[in-house]
Amino acid sequence: MNGMINITKPAVFISESEIQTRVQKIATEIKSFYTNFNLENDQSLVVVGVLKGAAIFTSDLIRNINLPIQLEFVRLASYGDGTKSGVLSAPDLSLPNLRNRHILIVEDIVDTGKTAVFLKQYLQDQFEPKTLKLASLLNKPSKRQTEVEPDFVGFEIEDKFVIGYGLDWAEKYRELSYLGIIEEF
Ligand code: IMP
Repeated sequence: MNGMINITKPAVFISESEIQTRVQKIATEIKSFYTNFNLENDQSLVVVGVLKGAAIFTSDLIRNINLPIQLEFVRLASYGDGTKSGVLSAPDLSLPNLRNRHILIVEDIVDTGKTAVFLKQYLQDQFEPKTLKLASLLNKPSKRQTEVEPDFVGFEIEDKFVIGYGLDWAEKYRELSYLGIIEEF
């Protein structure tokens, strides 16, 4: 284990059609949760996607939720060029006033949970939202170093480093429409 990484064409881990089917299911779960709050007559749901990893999942998700949505993004990075969780660096949290709104954070993956904990606390303190929920395409519970759990999950996975559908390894592979695996050895 010395950081050597095999970067041959990644094998399919979760196919494009499996992802799309699951995205529609989570979107339905999300819609039914927010239906309790009469959003159409009140205010739109605020979706806060976490760049860059969740950009593609967020854009597929919002087109399936079928509720009025205000789309925002923040930028947070906890990985550098490697596959080990690092420190949050150079966050861009510039958002409009979202006070008293229903906020749904969208992440690509909850790994250690540090990003989710940080962002939930930040949005809670800053805006005192009516509700604050977290959706994540992937959940890697074995790596958790915090108490956080996503409210809506696409796929629960083992401790593997996955790429594609927005997720990168050293800024590569985000454009793949499937999820692949990088083998580290
Ligand atoms: P956390 O703060 O440790 O939960 O890490 C969250 C961030 O780490 C995610 O938003 C990803 O950008 C990145 N990350 C964690 N695991 C993976 C992975 O398997 N592939 C690609 N990026 C990952």
